[in-house]
Amino acid sequence: MRDALRLSLALGALALGCTSVTPAIDVGPRLDAGPAIDAADALDAPDDPDPVVSTEERAALETLGWSRLVMPPDPTNAFADDPRAAHLGHTLFFDTGLSGPLLDGDDDGSPTTLGVRGEPGRVSCAGCHVPADGFVDTRTLGGQISLAASWVLRRTPTLLDVAHRRLMMWDGRRDSLFSQAVGPIESWNEMNSSRLFVAEQIASRYRSEYESIFGALPPLEDTVRFPVLSPSETGCELRPGGTRVCRGVPGDGADFDGMSASDRDAVTRVVVNVGKAIGAYERLLSCGASRFDDWLAGDASALDRAEIRGAVLFVGRAGCIACHAGPLLTDQSFHDVGLAPATVAVVFIDLDDRGAALGIEQLLASPLRSTSVFSDGDDGRLAALPDPARREGAFLTPPLRCLAAHPSFMHTGQLRSLTEVIDFFDRGGHPAGYLGTNELRPLGLSTRERADLVAFLRALEGPGPAAALRVPPT
Ligand code: HEC
Ligand code: HEC
Repeated sequence: MRDALRLSLALGALALGCTSVTPAIDVGPRLDAGPAIDAADALDAPDDPDPVVSTEERAALETLGWSRLVMPPDPTNAFADDPRAAHLGHTLFFDTGLSGPLLDGDDDGSPTTLGVRGEPGRVSCAGCHVPADGFVDTRTLGGQISLAASWVLRRTPTLLDVAHRRLMMWDGRRDSLFSQAVGPIESWNEMNSSRLFVAEQIASRYRSEYESIFGALPPLEDTVRFPVLSPSETGCELRPGGTRVCRGVPGDGADFDGMSASDRDAVTRVVVNVGKAIGAYERLLSCGASRFDDWLAGDASALDRAEIRGAVLFVGRAGCIACHAGPLLTDQSFHDVGLAPATVAVVFIDLDDRGAALGIEQLLASPLRSTSVFSDGDDGRLAALPDPARREGAFLTPPLRCLAAHPSFMHTGQLRSLTEVIDFFDRGGHPAGYLGTNELRPLGLSTRERADLVAFLRALEGPGPAAALRVPPT
């Protein structure tokens, strides 16, 4: 038998619970069409019923509480909790001077771009993970897919609480923060740079800070052993026909490949340590407790009626908790939600994105994976990968804290409001046009229930990281 606990709120408390800072623009209609309601009965009317939380639902909600979140160790990074490493990583996160030339014709110097095609030194991590806006991209035109050296193909995720991820990227192709950071540095459409250039920049601009943490740099001043790359030579150049010729990276057939094996390893070590420093900084980025957590802790006025009803639906009939579990509201696993990719931003549609089916293959082949010599340890995360049969068209469940102000949602950025996201889940995903097998089913929620779920998601806003972490260090 279910033991029901009724929560009714005084009118004053209701007003207090409504002091959300987010604008109400996308909440959608709050009233179901129905018989006219006598104003005097409005609070008890079926359109705004008292929330009812059963003991089972209460117990399920408790599992989402912020207070249950424990920072996991990062066995891959011996410097993960070293404040000097975090300081260096913080600086490097904002450093545009590690990047190579912009490549795209859309890089026209307007404020939604990072500069003009051909210009080097314009892209930092913060250029796409905008610290003032929850570390997502609010800068690029359209607020969906990022334009840096060129356009990327998936939406830029937040970095808040990213240190809790075991696998990262939408497709799981990275298994540590340090190895992840090497990706954007060398990717032609992000920073378009190279490990050789970055190592040389560290030697010329960060030598003492780097060496005090990680020990001596290789003899990069020996330009016979380590060819010098200028900012406009690092990374890739586009050739007619769309081919790319790259310098300073493994497989370049030039500057990097021409070095001895031990010098190549020494250069890779430097960029790995850059990744470890950035990883130490990323561990400090957190959303923090929300009004929902205040409510869990006993402050009955912290949530309004709609938000409580939304919370109950989330763990109950709407079934969200099946995937959005735990304090960050993610099971850290892959799911196919039947999303048919649609055109976003300017022209992008990535119809054949196989998600984890390719991501896991790339992870296992990565020379920087957590079981490699560049990792300081390994907690067996590679041994716990999902069954290959469940990877096609599947993406990692995103966390749901601090997301209400994001400009777009899903790995494609194609849904533009939380109302659209809830409508999508209510319909059980798209009828056709996606890879793999959709795991969702239609929910049959009423207009009010859908609005309640949106209200709940909006109650998961936290204070975010300290202001000093959102600007370059002084
Ligand atoms: C061009 C914009 C862009 C730049 C520049 C960029 N990122 Fe990203 N970042 C992305 C996108 C897009 C993804 C997701 C890509 C995917 O899943 O395929 C991502 C994913 C990540 C993730 C994984 C997050 C998760 O939840 O899985 C981390 C961590 C990260 N980036 C950190 C960085 C760091 C550190 C830098 C600088 C060294 C950086 N990014 C530079 C766009 C960018
Ligand atoms: C079967 C697992 C599953 C269920 C059930 C599920 N989700 Fe998701 N959710 C996901 C995955 C996976 C994504 C990312 C999909 C993608 O981008 O391709 C996602 C994306 C989202 C997003 C967008 C987040 C972002 O940063 O873009 C929101 C919001 C969300 N879900 C809320 C909900 C709510 C509310 C429910 C219940 C009505 C729900 N989800 C049910 C797995 C699930």
